[in-house]
Amino acid sequence: MANVTVIGAQWGDEGKGKIVDWLASRADAVVRFQGGHNAGHTLVIDGTTYKLSLLPSGIVSGTLSIIGNGVVLDPWALKAEVEKLEGQGVRITADNLAVADNCPLILPIHRDLDGLRETAAGSGKIGTTGRGIGPAYEDKVGRRAIRVCDLAHLDDLEPQLDRLCAHHDALRAGFDQPPVDREQLLSELREIAGFVLQYAQPVWKRLKKVRKAGAKILFEGAQGVLLDIDHGTYPFVTSSNTVSGTAAAGSGLGPNSTGYVLGIVKAYTTRVGSGPFPTELEDDIGQRLGERGHEFGTVTGRQRRVGWFDAVIVRQSCAISGVTGIALTKIDVLDGLDEVKICTGYRLRSNVYDYFPSHAADQAAVEPIYETMDGWSESTAGARSFADLPANAVKYVQRIQELIETPVALVSTSPERDDTILMRDPFMD
Ligand code: IMP
Repeated sequence: MANVTVIGAQWGDEGKGKIVDWLASRADAVVRFQGGHNAGHTLVIDGTTYKLSLLPSGIVSGTLSIIGNGVVLDPWALKAEVEKLEGQGVRITADNLAVADNCPLILPIHRDLDGLRETAAGSGKIGTTGRGIGPAYEDKVGRRAIRVCDLAHLDDLEPQLDRLCAHHDALRAGFDQPPVDREQLLSELREIAGFVLQYAQPVWKRLKKVRKAGAKILFEGAQGVLLDIDHGTYPFVTSSNTVSGTAAAGSGLGPNSTGYVLGIVKAYTTRVGSGPFPTELEDDIGQRLGERGHEFGTVTGRQRRVGWFDAVIVRQSCAISGVTGIALTKIDVLDGLDEVKICTGYRLRSNVYDYFPSHAADQAAVEPIYETMDGWSESTAGARSFADLPANAVKYVQRIQELIETPVALVSTSPERDDTILMRDPFMD
């Protein structure tokens, strides 16, 4: 039995929540390994909708859920999310939730800085989720972060707080902001510490034990490869590595444990926030797809930008992340279109590209080269076998598979867990 690593192969919001939930019901542990509460996963189970930002999707089905060290953790967001889910009847205890004790914390000062920078950047803003993700990762690599394990030693925090506040005070002064209120920060940390510590542990050890027992582990990526800090549309990216390779470093298991890499791919393309988007549609079709696909951010409620399927970026993502097979989601959103288009290459200054160039100006300037296919009038919603799909939808899936040079393992045909066509079982591959 393989473990499975799930990653988004576009700009996030590919429908990972549903696929992860579907896989989580058959896994023994689900692990988040990067990002923070900027992620937005929507699960629909038996007609009830659950919205998750920080907790692994396995939490709803009662599966052991682990927040790995690669995540940046906002303790207040954790508490709010736990309480919200408990209000929906989900049971969350130290038995089914573990938080890495070496996770760096997102503090209110990180949120402040995220907002101050975005406001100051004006039209050049990144369009972050405003959750303080970037500033928290900066403090992690700057070796001045406060981590979960520090919450058990708040009486000894003075030297760390000095370093952290000296850095933030200088930055805040640049934005005409008062220095950090250290007493308030410390008192807020004292108040929340007990809540977080009940789940805190060296999760690498827990995972080692789980693995030794032969359990199936699901690694749940957040955002998408095009938002990766190295491989994405820099600087319009998030501040973590979103590629599959991060599953190992961000959880404390080796790369030989991360198993089958399932890339989640939407049957068209969306993006939230600023940055290049070659196949973006600013016409009626884009509007229609956005409405049919309910393309509003789970975290921020922002309207997502919508475009045709871009095989160039997905092929690139699959290569960079070593994707074994893809799950194609939301194909039903394309139902009823006369024709559908797939981007197969880019034109830039009379050259043709079969990859997405690295330079930001080139990424913004490439023009998509499209292949047009006949659409389908029949509904694909709720189909549970390949034979239930209209012939033109099958052709569309097959063409995508060819162009991205990666097999399709699953097709998702509605938000409901069981409306899924399974071609290969990632846990059995
Ligand atoms: P940050 O992660 O809040 O710093 O935002 C950086 C960029 O990543 C922005 O364009 C966000 O819209 C985008 N982003 C962050 N998390 C998600 C997500 O879960 N889905 C889609 N886009 C995201």
